[in-house]
Amino acid sequence: MIYEYMKHMENKQFFIKTFGCQMNQRDSEIMAQSLSRFGYVEGMDIKDADLIILNTCSIRAKAEQKVMSLLGYLRKTKEKRPDMKICVAGCVAQQEGKSIIDRMPHVDLIIGTQNIYQIGEYLLAAEDGKHRVVTQMEDNYQIPRFLPNIPFSADSADAEKAAFQFSRFVTIMQGCNNYCTYCVVPYTRGREVSRMAKDIVDEVTLLVQSGVKEITLLGQNVNSYGRTNEVCPDNSSYNFSKLLRQVSSIEGLERLRFTTSNPKDLTDELIACFKDVDNLCPQFHLPVQSGSDNVLKAMNRKYSIAQYLQQVEKLREYCPTIALSTDMIIGFPGETDEDFEATMELLEKVKFHGSFSFKYSDRPGTRSSEFDNKVDETIKSERLARFQSRQDEISLERNEEFVGQEKQIMVEAIYEDSVKGRTATHHIVHVKGQVNTKVGAMLKVKINFAGQHSLKAELI
Ligand code: SAH
Ligand code: SF4
Ligand code: F3S
Repeated sequence: MIYEYMKHMENKQFFIKTFGCQMNQRDSEIMAQSLSRFGYVEGMDIKDADLIILNTCSIRAKAEQKVMSLLGYLRKTKEKRPDMKICVAGCVAQQEGKSIIDRMPHVDLIIGTQNIYQIGEYLLAAEDGKHRVVTQMEDNYQIPRFLPNIPFSADSADAEKAAFQFSRFVTIMQGCNNYCTYCVVPYTRGREVSRMAKDIVDEVTLLVQSGVKEITLLGQNVNSYGRTNEVCPDNSSYNFSKLLRQVSSIEGLERLRFTTSNPKDLTDELIACFKDVDNLCPQFHLPVQSGSDNVLKAMNRKYSIAQYLQQVEKLREYCPTIALSTDMIIGFPGETDEDFEATMELLEKVKFHGSFSFKYSDRPGTRSSEFDNKVDETIKSERLARFQSRQDEISLERNEEFVGQEKQIMVEAIYEDSVKGRTATHHIVHVKGQVNTKVGAMLKVKINFAGQHSLKAELI
C-alpha cells in the first residue's frame, strides 16, 4: 500500500512556510519528515512546489491576518497550476479550519495540531475532495513516539539549515491547561500532555549520535512537564528537573536549552539545575507579561511580582552569568497608567537582557476578549513604544557588559569575510575576517564591541 503511495507521489516537491513559535518550527520538521515517506522532497522555492503547506500561528490577530492574506494570494497561483495542492496546518487551521475551507475552495487540506504526524495519509485521503478538514482533538491524546531522521546536510546551500544540523528542537509536551485569559493556545493545541521521558531521551541520544551539539526542549509550559500524565513508569516523582538532568548527561551534548516557562510552576529544584548542570546554558526565557499584580490577576497568571522578583534573585544567585529574557503584553484590558508604570518599574528592577513585547490583541474564544475595559489603541501604541525604547537601552547596557570578556561561540554561518556564532547566553556574535572553521564548531573569542542586537568579537 505504502509502495503504491510512493509511486503515486514520486519526485514531488513540497514547500513549508512556518509562522509562530518554535513548537510550530518543530511541527514543520515533523511534517517534512512524514512527507518524505511519501516520496516528497523539500524544495527551496514556492514557485516549484507541488504542495504548499502553511504552518500557521494565531497568537495575535496580526499573525492570523498574515496567513489569510497569503492564502488569498495563493488563489491565483492555484488558478495557474490547478494540480498544486495547498494545505493549512497549525493553530489557525485548528481553530478556523472549517471556515477556511468554506471560504477558500482552493485549499485542499486543513490539518490540526494533533494530526500532523499523518499528513501524508490525510493528503491522499483528501484527493477525492472529501475529508478535507482533519482537526479532531482527543482527550487522552498521546504524542506519538517519533524518532527524527536528520534530513539536513551540513553542506546544505541554505546556511540556516546547515546550522540546524547542530542545533535541534525536541518537543517534550503539547498543549496547555493554564487558560491565561488572553491566550488562544489551550484552544489551538488542546489539553496539556507530556511525552514519555524514554522517548525524549531516545530522540536526543539519536540526534547527538548524529552530530547534534545543541538541544532545545520545547513545550508551552515545560515547568509542568509530567504533571498531567505518567512520563516514567519507574519513578512517579519524575518531573522537568529530572528530565533536564537526564538529558544533560547524554554523552556528546554540549548545549542544552528549554523554552518556554510559566513562573507559576518554576521550582527551586529547577533553579538549582542552573548551578550544577554544566551543559545547561546560562539563559532563561521567563515570560512575566506585566509588572502589575492587578493585571497578572486579571490575566490568571497565578503569581505575583514579588514572587517573580524572588525567582530572578535566586536564579542570579545560583548562576550569576544567566541572561534573562521575558515576554510582555502591553495594554491588557483594564491596564491603568499606574499598572503600566509598574511594568516600567519592573524593567528597571530586573534589567532583562531582552524582551518580546506585544500590544494586547483580542483572540476568539478567550475570556479577556469578553472584558469590557479595553485600552484605547493609541494608548497601547504609546505605551509599547515607551517600553520598547527603554528595553533597547537596557539591552545595549547588558550587551556592553560583555565587552572584554572571553566567550565560546557555536558557529552558525560562515561568510566570505566573517563568521556568525552564538554564545551560551544566546547572543549573536560576528567575528570579522576569513576564519577556517565549520558550522557547528566551537570557537573561543573575545568580545570587542556591543550593539543593541548583536556583539562583535575577535578570535583568541
Ligand atoms: N506559554 C508561554 C507563552 C506562549 S505565547 C507563557 O505562558 O508565558 C507567546 C507570547 O505571546 C506570550 O508570552 C504573550 O506575551 C504573547 N501573547 C499571547 N497571547 C496574546 C494576546 N492575546 N495578545 C498579545 N500578546 C499575546
Ligand atoms: Fe498561553 Fe498561559 Fe498556556 Fe502560556 S501558560 S500557553 S500564555 S495559556
Ligand atoms: Fe502561535 Fe500556536 Fe505557537 S498560536 S505561538 S504557533 S502554539
